[in-house]
Amino acid sequence: MEMTLGNKVVLVGTGAVGASYAYSLMNQGICDELVLVDLNEEKARGDVMDLAHGIVYAPSSMRISFGTYDDCKDAAIVVICAGAAQKPGETRLDLVHKNVKIFEHIVNGVMSSGFNGIFLVATNPVDILTYATWKFSGLPKERVIGSGTILDSARFRHLLSEELGAAPTSVHGYIIGEHGDSQLAVWSGANISGTPIADQLSSERKEEIAVQVRNAAYEIIKSKGATYYGIAMGLARITRAILRNEQVVLPVGAYLDGEYGEHDIYVGVPSIIHRGGVKKVLELPLDKSEHEKFSKSIQTLKEIQQPFFS
Ligand code: 2OP
Repeated sequence: MEMTLGNKVVLVGTGAVGASYAYSLMNQGICDELVLVDLNEEKARGDVMDLAHGIVYAPSSMRISFGTYDDCKDAAIVVICAGAAQKPGETRLDLVHKNVKIFEHIVNGVMSSGFNGIFLVATNPVDILTYATWKFSGLPKERVIGSGTILDSARFRHLLSEELGAAPTSVHGYIIGEHGDSQLAVWSGANISGTPIADQLSSERKEEIAVQVRNAAYEIIKSKGATYYGIAMGLARITRAILRNEQVVLPVGAYLDGEYGEHDIYVGVPSIIHRGGVKKVLELPLDKSEHEKFSKSIQTLKEIQQPFFS
């Protein structure tokens, strides 16, 4: 059966990340219809009202309502931001048991509506939960996408932009691998107008930047309890790329089926995003040490994933 077109988005989970994402969608005029689904109906209904009062000042109109899984039936994208959140001192991987269970319930609920669109997953540990969504849904791999390293790559470009005094849109570089502690910065390809950035920084400085990217979430969680604006903008960017068939390259959580010599894993890698989801995973020419780190990151994820999905 043909996948659902149109541009209706259903958001499951209206905590801080979900609500910030809904606000970004409205503010950027990305979709015509947004439905919020949450166990906490009262909070979600409050969000619907609050957001609806902003639409008159948005770049384009958007219908917004509270709904249930039944509303996913004709949705183009279902975005999942629901689940237990990371507490101070907890890693993203500590959440896995709680959230795999929650996801089985959510994905089954969404699929029983007859949903035939694209899943976009943001809940942590995002790589494992994207894989779980793919398994539980039975949808083609291209139509299940994780936020992957979209946020880590944004953090990387932000720091490089400060370092080099150029806009973050003009500095290019990717963080790949796990959205978590085993991620890596691909210094070999980082560039400003094609000029390698790696040659302009000392090894110590490069290490400091990579560590700052990796620890950014811990730092924010320590200071204000959660992170949400950055990821919300990243999710909105992926949503726009899908709905407008942009074919833009974004670092998302994509399924590897032989790329980088890896199989059967969702992980952050640059990918071409179009109306059908992931059009193509791009293989960065990694140097030897980057390749080793990437394989290790995948190994880390597989060890956690295997007991659930062997
Ligand atoms: C972040 O990286 C906690 O995954 C979340 O901000």
